[in-house]
Amino acid sequence: MNAILIAVTGPEPEAWVRHFRTLVPQRELRIFPAHMGDLDDVAYACVWKAPPGILRPCSNLKAIFSIGAGVDHIFTDPNLPDVPVVRIVDDDLTMRMGEYVVLHALMHHRFQRAYDTQQRERIWRENRQPAASAVTVGIMGLGVLGRHAADLLRHIGFRVAGWSRTPQTVEGVSTFHGAGGLDDFLATTDILVCLLPRTAETTGLIDMALLRKLRRDGPLGGPCLINAGRGSTQIEKDILAALDDGTLKGATLDVFEAEPLSPESRLWTHPKVTITPHNAAASAPGALVKNMLAQIERFEAGGALQNVVDRQRGY
Ligand SMILES: NC(=O)c1ccc[n+]([C@@H]2O[C@H](COP(=O)([O-])OP(=O)(O)OC[C@H]3O[C@@H](n4cnc5c(N)ncnc54)[C@H](OP(=O)(O)O)[C@@H]3O)[C@@H](O)[C@H]2O)c1
Repeated sequence: MNAILIAVTGPEPEAWVRHFRTLVPQRELRIFPAHMGDLDDVAYACVWKAPPGILRPCSNLKAIFSIGAGVDHIFTDPNLPDVPVVRIVDDDLTMRMGEYVVLHALMHHRFQRAYDTQQRERIWRENRQPAASAVTVGIMGLGVLGRHAADLLRHIGFRVAGWSRTPQTVEGVSTFHGAGGLDDFLATTDILVCLLPRTAETTGLIDMALLRKLRRDGPLGGPCLINAGRGSTQIEKDILAALDDGTLKGATLDVFEAEPLSPESRLWTHPKVTITPHNAAASAPGALVKNMLAQIERFEAGGALQNVVDRQRGY
């Protein structure tokens, strides 16, 4: 029967169902948790933070689709069926992340938080800003999102550096890789952008020791951090300590160790912190449903699935 199971938790789960119903009205849909039915009929599962174990009874499952670029929420399931796990690579999502990185890189570069404060206090004072060409934005993660952000930043005039697990070549970007390349990458970086996936290796990477290695004598008067990858990469108590003692000049955080961020967190009120609710690249469900359906259509016509995740690497 080749039914599609939609198991999406979080905001707007019904929007995904609506788009599937509109675009493939003839296709049998199973919806978690209300309309699961006979799971032997399910061929494809489209998931976001689905409870562990729910895919186990799907004996004829052919592929699992993450409705986001990250797949860490899928690999938390110890009973995950052994079928291809596919992630979203979509221009809509990629461009939204590009906007976010550019917005916040420029916010730090143009001292916008200082002007916000001055405006509240009716202070007319120019804070001299350096040329973009004097500032290096260092991007951790040179995948689909990191490369696009690098391209946008380069065209604005920033110097751009990038760090990845394996050697990568990106036009106009100074690239570094692996543990051996990390210190040199950090030493050149004024604005650190994290677009890393959640894996065992990236967990807890952004700690005080790492932040202390960022370029200290740069033109912004101190380094800044933007994390729009995964909250598991950062140690929030170290980020707070680094902001307090001047190791960091500012931080933009879209992702957190625990989400939603606790109302008790000191990050909310820290004067050097900008917070967004994990929406850096919150994509329109319509665009992503079309993307998944195109994959299913190609697969059923005998083509290969694209953007299949390497389970060993975890991303
Ligand atoms: N905040 C949001 O709204 C939002 C939205 C979408 C995605 N995201 C996050 O963004 C992440 C990146 O997405 P993407 O599409 O760009 O992923 P991707 O194409 O898979 O790229 C991942 C990049 O990270 C690098 N990497 C992975 N592990 C590493 C390690 N241990 N050390 C150094 N580099 C490492 C990879 O290195 P190699 O090139 O050597 O493989 C690659 O360059 C997603 O996994 C997700 O967590 C966040």
